[in-house]
Order: sequence, then C-alpha cells, then structure tokens
Amino acid sequence: MKIAFAEPALPESGTLVVGVLDDRQLTPTAEAVDGRTGGALVRAMAASRFRGKPSELLDVLAPSDGLDRVVLVGLGKVEDLTLRKAQDTGGVVVAHLGRAGVKKAVFAFDTLEGAKVEGAAALASLAFGARLRAYRFDKYRTREKEDQKPSLEELTLMAAGAGDAAAGFEPLDKVADGVVFTRNLVSEPANIIYPETLAQAGQTLESLGVQVEVLGEAQMKDLGMGALLGVGQGSARESQLLVMQWNGGQTGEAPIAFIGKGVCFDTGGISIKPAGGMEDMKWDMGGAGVVIGLMKALAGRKAPVNVVAVAGLVENMPSSTAQRPGDIVTSMSGQTIEVINTDAEGRLVLADALWYTQERFKPKFMIDLATLTGAIIIALGHHHAGVFANNDELADRLAECGRDVGEAVWRLPVSDDYNKQINSEAADMKNVGGRDAGSITAAQFLQRFVNDTPWAHIDIAGVTWSKKDTPTVPKGGTGFGVQLLNELVARYYEG
Ligand code: BES
Ligand code: MN
Ligand code: ZN
Repeated sequence: MKIAFAEPALPESGTLVVGVLDDRQLTPTAEAVDGRTGGALVRAMAASRFRGKPSELLDVLAPSDGLDRVVLVGLGKVEDLTLRKAQDTGGVVVAHLGRAGVKKAVFAFDTLEGAKVEGAAALASLAFGARLRAYRFDKYRTREKEDQKPSLEELTLMAAGAGDAAAGFEPLDKVADGVVFTRNLVSEPANIIYPETLAQAGQTLESLGVQVEVLGEAQMKDLGMGALLGVGQGSARESQLLVMQWNGGQTGEAPIAFIGKGVCFDTGGISIKPAGGMEDMKWDMGGAGVVIGLMKALAGRKAPVNVVAVAGLVENMPSSTAQRPGDIVTSMSGQTIEVINTDAEGRLVLADALWYTQERFKPKFMIDLATLTGAIIIALGHHHAGVFANNDELADRLAECGRDVGEAVWRLPVSDDYNKQINSEAADMKNVGGRDAGSITAAQFLQRFVNDTPWAHIDIAGVTWSKKDTPTVPKGGTGFGVQLLNELVARYYEG
C-alpha cells in the first residue's frame, strides 16, 4: 500500500475519510462534506449507533453524485488525542477500507483546536499506524482470489502542512521497515528460515551501512561456546552466530547491545515437545528477528548511536547426534551446565551469546530478547512481555517506553532464592529449575552469564505471535520489541 501526503483540496469523487469527535461533533472537514452532501453525514449518524468514540467507523455510501463513500472515523475527545490513538486510527481505517473493496482513498485530517499533540506529528503517527496494519504475509497463498485480498492500494493523507507530516513520517517509515522485516522473518517457516538463511537476512543490512559478521561452528568451537553448540548438534543445519554493528555515534564510545534467541525451530530435542501446536516453534527465533529488525530501523533512520546486535542461531532437533538429558556442556564463560531438559535450549544459546557480547564489546548495557518460556504466557498472557533486570533504571525505562509505544512490559523479580533452584549436583548449574517460577529461573540462568554490565532480559514468548488483529498489528508475527527498543534508544541513548 502506498501512503502519500497532500495539501487540502477536498475531492468530489471516490472515497473520503473524515474524523468525527466524541458526541458526534464533526471536524471542520466533516462539516464541509456534510454541507456538500445535503446533510448526509449527520443523517447517517442519527440512523446509527456511531458516537465518534476512538476508532469507531461508519460508512456513508454514495452521499452525492460524485462520492462513492464517506467513512466517518471516531477520534474521541479532542483533549484525549495521543500519538498512539492517531496510530490506531490509521490502522483501523486501513483495515476497514481493505475489507470494503476500496482501492484508493483520501483521509482529510484537520488540525484540531485543543489537541495536546501537534497536528503534523499526529498525522505522521496516523500514517505509521496505517502502514503497520497494512502488513500481510501472503507470499505462499497462490490461489487467493483478488476479491478476497485487502483491496486498498493507496491512502492519501490530506492536511495543511502536509510537508511537515511527511518529514515526520520519514523516521517512522524506517521503523516500520524494521517491524515488517521482523514480521517476515518470524512468519517464514523453518524450511526457509534456518540458521544460515537467517544470518543471510542479517547480511542484507550491509547495504544500510551495518557491519555484519557471521561465525560458523568451527569459530564458535574455538571460542568455547559449548552451550550454544550443544543445542545445534542434533541438526543437519549448521549453527551460526550473527554479529551486527551500527556505528552511528562517536568513534570509540562504548556501544549498547541487543542479543536475540534465534532457535529457528524448537522441537524440544530429545526432550521432544508434543505434536499439537509444535508448528508455532518456527517463531522461536523471534528474539533474533527483533534484533535484526531493530538494526534495520536504527540504520535506516541513521540513528546517532553505537549499537551491536548479536543473535545465536540454531535448530533444536532430536537425532542420533543430538545432546541428551544429563549431558554436561562447558559454556564460553567456563561455567559448566547439566542439561536436564533439552527443551530448555534458549537459555543455553543466550548464555554464550551474552558472554560473547559482554567480553568482546564491553557494552553500556545488554538487553536480550527471547521466546524463552511457556511460563511467561501463564503469568502475563499476551498483553505484556516479561522483563527481568539487574538494573532498576533500565527496567524503568523499558516499562515507560513500552507504555508509550504500545508494547507493554511488566517486571518480574530476580533474586538469590530463585537462583538456588538451578544449582546442580553434577555441574555448576542445571538448565531447568523445576515447575515453580519457570520464567524467573530461566532469567536467573541468563544472569549467571552477565557480570556487572547493566542487563535486562525480555521474555517475549507471549507477544511474538498474535492470534487476533489489533489496530496496528494484524494477526501473525507482531514484531513486538522493535518499536519498544527503537524508542528506548531514541529517547535515552542518541547524541
Ligand atoms: N521456545 C520455548 C518456549 C515457548 C513456549 C515459546 C511456548 C513460545 C510458546 C522454550 O524453548 C521452551 O521449550 N521452554 C520450556 C522450558 C522448560 C523445559 C523448562 C517451557 O517453557 O516449557
Ligand atoms: Mn524449548
Ligand atoms: Zn525454545
């Protein structure tokens, strides 16, 4: 879908979208259209339950000779308008027009008296929301009829000062590029995206100026990454470590670091998972997908900051070469791990990826993302990701940015008491801590591979894939984390 910005010039034909405030209060443009159509908008509202609440929609069909359709979209109370609400408005309008069979539409937007957000910024956010919702992963649907696909091809956003809105949209457009990249990677099946091809996806960022290195199994063996390699040893696919660097900041300034779990398929290994729903484990590389999409967003908008992103890419398979329950592996840190359950593999991959990142880059902080535990879904469902941290400031910043961009996170504790649950008789630790507090003991495990570096772990198992549409996220891969971390970087670590 194409998004364009234009100065106001109300069209006499086609499809027009106009805003209506709470209690059916027409915006100036809606008022003008109502006048031109002999009061069709007011009559249509009176004949319906439409009140103008945020994201409410009402179609007024063929209200004049020329106009095919006027869509009224609720904006709520003017003083409550936020950039998030503007995004949602863009999203619901796109979904609606796509279902209605409309190919081209003009959304005429007014600068609203009394709004707390600036008009150009609101319009840029609206465009961002429109783009995020227009996403669809349909490359393998070869038999779908045209009239079953979303119809919208072009949305023109019309407002005074359209140039400012277009300029404001530019960085958001780059963030959307990152989100879309992540969603695509997460949606691809595991016969297409496996460690080598996921690493190649990372390499495409070289065209944006990102430095990319890919380590294979021989190099990781030399580094002593026995924890990561143990997970991949049952797979015919070679494990990879993807290392990306974006140096947009001061030369020599310590980078910030993001680390992703990239289990391209998680069968559970010898501790094999039940068949039902196992196909979901194609998105067990969601953390890696986010750090790659995030780098695309940051490099795309030329963020003035030094960032590294590291993704541990493996496939967890059962086979005659797979690791067994009870195996003891030695991690790059030198710490030994008794692998009680081969399905608790994400933490093994991250253990070496975190240690490597800390040792090589001495980052200002590390944030890892992982679809790490089913237990986080039991705790938080699908509305918050779980955060664990050794640093209050980092945790607070994540919570605040998450609220603002609509990717909410909720902090859970780490402490010595939980840490004891993963002590082992046979090795320095074991990779599972029992049923109790499963997400916390997973985080405790990771923390054993972090020294004093400020660190946060985000368990995204409940938010990486959505079974329902929301205003700006169509069902499927969400890209959750890209906006959150882009916002964290933009707000606190640039310049
Ligand atoms: N990838 C899974 C976690 C997961 C479950 C992600 C459901 C998304 C949806 C992870 O590798 C895993 O299998 N975790 C186990 C850990 C257990 C063996 C301690 C789990 O959560 O059951
Ligand atoms: Mn697993
Ligand atoms: Zn997993």
